Amino acid sequence: MNAQELELIDTARGLVASGKGLLAMDESNSTCNEEFAELGIAQTMDVRRAWRELIITTPRLAEYISGVILYDETIRQESREGPSFLNVLADTGITPGIKVDLGAKTQAGHPGEKVTEGLDGLRGRLQAYFQMGARFAKWRAVITIGNGLPSQGCIEANAHALARYAALCQEVGLVPIVEPEILMTGEHGIEECGKVTEQVLHAVFNQLYEQRVLLEAMILKPGMVLPGLACPKQETADQVADTTVHCLLRVVPAAVAGVAFLSGGQTGEQASARLNAMAVRFNAYGSPLPWVLTFSFARAIQRPALAIWNGDDTNKAKAQQALLHRARCNWAALRGDYDIAMEGNG
Ligand code: 13P
Repeated sequence: MNAQELELIDTARGLVASGKGLLAMDESNSTCNEEFAELGIAQTMDVRRAWRELIITTPRLAEYISGVILYDETIRQESREGPSFLNVLADTGITPGIKVDLGAKTQAGHPGEKVTEGLDGLRGRLQAYFQMGARFAKWRAVITIGNGLPSQGCIEANAHALARYAALCQEVGLVPIVEPEILMTGEHGIEECGKVTEQVLHAVFNQLYEQRVLLEAMILKPGMVLPGLACPKQETADQVADTTVHCLLRVVPAAVAGVAFLSGGQTGEQASARLNAMAVRFNAYGSPLPWVLTFSFARAIQRPALAIWNGDDTNKAKAQQALLHRARCNWAALRGDYDIAMEGNG
């Protein structure tokens, strides 16, 4: 391996093998505005900046979080006191990453399905982000279950784009986070989610191989294998842990640096409990998993804090406590030390 490849592997390991997790704060402006609107928070650039500043200046965040995923607007911003967000992060030792896809758009000829755009001109954008200081990137593909979906055409198009993106990232020195998200919406059972997850990951790793992506220098960001939100049967945390890990063991090569789950609409407590069950049932015993398991949550870390802040900086300290609490719960879950009793003294 050459020096750049070794450095990429170091970065990937530093992000996932530190016993910490990732915090996704890379909502596009429209997604961030939607979340603000739900809570009646003003949807302006300045308010988005204030929210993101609150997150990255949370005291002790770096004890639990190894990297944060930023959005194009955020990576260029400055905090109220002056230092850029990137300098604030550099001072805490948190590695900055950047969302580089341009969103999931309706896929032609595939009603109800989406394909993620953003490959045109991507090399130049990645080079610019690396120059700014980003050391990893994220690209999210979206797969829907239901009514005969997903189609093979949707899976292949998204897998191909993810692999092309990942190869470009490694070329410029960024560790790619490869995120094929299978949406939780629907009435399907956990078995169906497992079947689709296996099918999608199989296609993704096939494309990653074809595009010559160095698996040791990438992070997979899948969803947990879960029943649809509208499915009457909701499995326990232990059952989710078993189904998820057994599925991943069948399709994720051992060389992959780490698996960092998205939260996908689970509550903070659900996400922590399920992550904890995976650590207890698989990593706490004799034969550890081939890859590191960790988290890369957005909503399951941010949501309670956002509701407390509510656009008003007089609530800032309380919101930061709530954010830190969720980060700490997930950090504890990685060790199998999360307990619902922790929720009482947040
Ligand atoms: P959630 O944890 O809210 O699913 O977000 C993770 C993410 O980065 C989505 O792209």
